[in-house]
Amino acid sequence: MCGIIGYTGKKKLAKENIITGLKNLEYRGYDSAGIALSENGEINLYKSSGKISNLENYIKDKNISSSTGIGHTRWATHGEPNQINAHPHKCGNVTIVHNGIIENYIDIRKKLENEKITLQSGTDTEVACAYINYIYEKEENNSDRKLKSIIKACSDFRGSYAFGIIFSDEPEVIYTTRKDSPLIIGVGKNENFIASDISAILDFTKEYILLEAGEFAKISCNSINVYDSNLKPISKNISTATWTASEYKKNGYDHFMLKEINEQPQVISNIFKKYLDNIELCSIEFEKYNKIHIVACGSAMHAGLVGKYLLENYANIPVTVEVASEYRYKNQLLSKDTLVIIISQSGETADTLAALRIAKEKGAKTLAIVNAVGSSIAREADETIYTYAGPEIAVATTKGYTTQVAVLSSICLNIMKNKNIISDDKKIYEELKNIKKILKNIIENSEVYKNVAKKIYKCDNLFYIGRGIDYALCMEGSLKLKEISYMHSEAYAAGELKHGTISLIENGTPVIAIATNKELYEKTVSNIKETKARGAFSILISPYTNNTSDFADISVELPDLSEFVNPISTVCVLQLIAYETAKLRGCDIDKPKNLAKSVTVE
Ligand code: F6R
Repeated sequence: MCGIIGYTGKKKLAKENIITGLKNLEYRGYDSAGIALSENGEINLYKSSGKISNLENYIKDKNISSSTGIGHTRWATHGEPNQINAHPHKCGNVTIVHNGIIENYIDIRKKLENEKITLQSGTDTEVACAYINYIYEKEENNSDRKLKSIIKACSDFRGSYAFGIIFSDEPEVIYTTRKDSPLIIGVGKNENFIASDISAILDFTKEYILLEAGEFAKISCNSINVYDSNLKPISKNISTATWTASEYKKNGYDHFMLKEINEQPQVISNIFKKYLDNIELCSIEFEKYNKIHIVACGSAMHAGLVGKYLLENYANIPVTVEVASEYRYKNQLLSKDTLVIIISQSGETADTLAALRIAKEKGAKTLAIVNAVGSSIAREADETIYTYAGPEIAVATTKGYTTQVAVLSSICLNIMKNKNIISDDKKIYEELKNIKKILKNIIENSEVYKNVAKKIYKCDNLFYIGRGIDYALCMEGSLKLKEISYMHSEAYAAGELKHGTISLIENGTPVIAIATNKELYEKTVSNIKETKARGAFSILISPYTNNTSDFADISVELPDLSEFVNPISTVCVLQLIAYETAKLRGCDIDKPKNLAKSVTVE
């Protein structure tokens, strides 16, 4: 969470370039934003609460020509999301932007207060800033003084951080370091950058250096020097980004979410094409493992639930799925026979990364399914399968999730092939070949989803029910709706509703029932009828929509597909219902309140 960017360059465009970069990073948090600029030898701070546009309006008429600066967009962790707590923070000679959490900031704050140093804000970042300045003031005055004080201060910090730091007495230079929060250094011509991710700088350069944990860099407009904690220089490779700046634009769509929903036919078909062309997904011999743990957060965990269903039902491998924040704090009984699959769109989710490290420490083989190329999870896992979905900007994931499901389906089909497990191959392969068209047709059916949205958007409460794989899809549909429309919704295994929750059904409560499995269809229909008898307004989403008028108030017809494709096509419908509903409620669809795209804190 939080996005940071820094710029130093001969063109004196620090203000403009940092604002551009912050806009591209806004998905990482939008509680407040701020910028520190070097102007005539002084470091000046400009901050505002709320979105980047507030900051932009605040400084747009100020006549600033600056060569160097650092900027920040905040997702509040410590301290309210107001102007005082907005970054950058400045203490003495040091100005700082920070992504992460300094967990022992209260102890450090006490130490500073004992030294009669007073702080203005409630943030851990101001404590970090004051502490670096405190050490700097004590440090012997030589050419390494600044790096040494950063290194010493960091050795006392517990938690996660990526810092951008400017010293007032060297205002054209940016210092940076990171631990457990991402940071790259952008390499330009007579200008260089730091950023939380590549999206921030793609308008200026595609070349970047990945800073590893525990590395410290000193950056000016024409030099980048990286050191270890003993100040030994480190030679770094320059990488070239594969994503382009235009992939970060809405390109005519009203929202990034809608654009990304519409990109699914292409990106999903790319994944299955690879599979059909028999390109190895990775070198892991899946058949060797007799147990799989899938670990992830949020929607990625929901993708894992679809994977569990497929792998257990079709490939006969026992699978557990767990949220990473729970997984990491339990005694995991891992052996060499266990494969741990870590799923993450961003590849930076703190809990998921920690779970990966635990699994590795315990000797398990780890496979990451990741979208962001070069991200921490992708780099640290034993093997990585990329989903190649392209940048996902909307906070609510769409193509991130469905590409994860497509990879899991492909893994399952691979295992089945290797184990000679017979299934309805011809039908499945036909669907995989036609997936682009299938998904396009579904997505284009927008009037149907608008109609559902019109019927539900004024309600406070609703339920998604389904059985088997449909239950996993209900969880994703429900999460999508609640996060962008702010309506309360719950996903329930259809047979479980009557064990308590059915008491919440009132006259008109919408119940969205997903029934894609023919064998379970009648059971789910009985459960819909139970809710209907108690006044529910029922919406059936199913390939089987003939003669449903006595129990379904609305029926949304799906194509009749195999379970390797069905989850993807059904979720497209659920994404669009959520999107249309949030639109009718006037919500900020791409940036729902209180959320951030990349959750780099526990
Ligand atoms: C919901 C959503 C989140 C993410 C979760 C994991 O729409 O986007 O639930 O799925 O925060 O993020 P990644 O996949 O980046 O690890």
